[in-house]
Amino acid sequence: MCGIVGVIGNPKATNILIHGLERLEYRGYDSAGIYVQGEKSYLVKSVGRIAQLKALLTPEVQGMIGIGHTRWATHGKPSEENAHPHTADHGRFVLVHNGVIENYQEIKDHYLADDTFYGDTDTEIAVHLIAKMTLESGSTEEGLRQALKIIKGSYAFALIDQEDPDTIYVAKNKSPLLLGVGAGYNMVCSDAMAMINETNQFVEIHDMEMVLVHADRYEIKNLAGEIIRRLPFTAEIDAADLEKGTYPFYMLKEIDEQPTVMRRIASEYFAGEEVEVAPEILEAMKESDRIYIVACGTSWHAGWVGKFLFENLCDLPVEVLLSSEVGYRLPLLSQKPFFIFPSQSGETADTRQVLVETKRLGIPSLTLTNVPGSTLAREATFSLPLLAGPEIAVASTKAYTAQIAVLACLAKAAGEALGKAAAQDFDLKHQLGLVANGMEEIFTEKDLLEQQAYNYLTDRRNAFYIGRGPDYYVSMEAALKLKEISYIQAEGFAAGELKHGTIALIEEGTPVFGVITDAVTASHTRGNLQEVESRGAHTYVISMKGLEKAEDNLVLPRIDPLLTPLLSVVPAQLIAYYATIQRHLDVDKPRNLAKSVTVE
Ligand code: F6R
Repeated sequence: MCGIVGVIGNPKATNILIHGLERLEYRGYDSAGIYVQGEKSYLVKSVGRIAQLKALLTPEVQGMIGIGHTRWATHGKPSEENAHPHTADHGRFVLVHNGVIENYQEIKDHYLADDTFYGDTDTEIAVHLIAKMTLESGSTEEGLRQALKIIKGSYAFALIDQEDPDTIYVAKNKSPLLLGVGAGYNMVCSDAMAMINETNQFVEIHDMEMVLVHADRYEIKNLAGEIIRRLPFTAEIDAADLEKGTYPFYMLKEIDEQPTVMRRIASEYFAGEEVEVAPEILEAMKESDRIYIVACGTSWHAGWVGKFLFENLCDLPVEVLLSSEVGYRLPLLSQKPFFIFPSQSGETADTRQVLVETKRLGIPSLTLTNVPGSTLAREATFSLPLLAGPEIAVASTKAYTAQIAVLACLAKAAGEALGKAAAQDFDLKHQLGLVANGMEEIFTEKDLLEQQAYNYLTDRRNAFYIGRGPDYYVSMEAALKLKEISYIQAEGFAAGELKHGTIALIEEGTPVFGVITDAVTASHTRGNLQEVESRGAHTYVISMKGLEKAEDNLVLPRIDPLLTPLLSVVPAQLIAYYATIQRHLDVDKPRNLAKSVTVE
């Protein structure tokens, strides 16, 4: 995680760095720092958010070159000593880093036994190693290259040598990094959003490459020192999409954007009434005998709904796997597997590890991502966009529903290619329009949901979401939303499984939210709700028109049974949001988290 920025050749370097860091704050927010060099040099660091760093900046902190960092701690607690930039050789070398250096202890013992360190980070060891190699080789470029040959792990580095203020030295392996090309000045950043106010021209940097960034040019090289030519691409990001507008939090804005996203997917994935997915993808899926959906967190939850869709529309068996569990130990695979990686960010390290492994085995893969140029999009055999627009709040909302909608398009297209009647008869385009309308109908109940969040969750330490089948999949996501932002310990549970042990946790007043949209299991889930109610639980029912009872707390508009998760998740997102507001917590930046998880 962590975000890095750099700029060279612009007298407003400080402003550009700070604005870039504000845009990258979603990547980590426990400490931050910048280094700026003009006639003098300034190193300013602070624990906490960018706002705290900003408060420390005095007007003279200005220069033409600088680097900055916002941190999500991996090695060493959040403190000023551990905040980046880190320095070596009495401040001559200044480094920011996103990633994890795996062999930092070996490097410290073997190469830097006599050095003194101020903090506990792997990055401080890296900058000391670069300094040592530079002093030995007589060139910063060569010193960095030598250091990269020793360092193992993930990194996006931006380095300044105080004695060479015409260059930012950059290197990348596994962690995201882009070069931004401005008019007479250049930038580096973890994500194009950071610099989109300055330019829409970006250059990809690949793993094991170094870049010498100057104000008016850049040189990309491999570790053998050979020059690589690569032209910029245009980033299609609308700067206005990155603003909160009149919303108090991004999360609420992103929840509200979901109907637009559904309509966008219905329009972009269909040509007239025909679903459109690249024929090569469908061919690869047709040839496979089993689909593996591999992801983390919310994306993993969307993967479960994907399984439901593929099994119903394509008649293909599907396994849903957690990336972090299978990255180094794949399960026994079928003869002709096809892997799908849903990932909002397209940068998740755990998921990438599985992709690396499938590539090694020659297995075809497809990334579904919200960030088209991301690592997972580039490295998979195929990729499809989620079209959700930038998602800034750490808790994912619109990317989850976009993943389900795109998985539905894919399942329909693959099912049709396989000649399956269920896929041919499924009027997905029309249904996505109904989903969008249904979401808007749920939004008219925001006041009620706010009140219910208050009634059910005030002063509660724990809560449950329960359901069966698709309602269970949504329950897992609903519980994650609630716990990650409100810090109420919440579990998403298979309704029928409670009585096999977990029901012991139910006590007087425990909130249990039941999701009931599946006709096949509705009466059984209602039975399970009665079981917990008779043990003191405070039950809440989200049901669907046609399956509702007069006493249900919220009744969703009716929708095709294959798509109910797209609606049933929305009240849960809003309940989590309101419960968090009622606790006076920062909805968009929950503690200990970061949006893009680029460490394993
Ligand atoms: C929770 C959340 C996370 C992510 C997970 C995977 O709201 O956002 O659980 O879903 O870290 O991230 P991506 O989808 O970027 O691979």
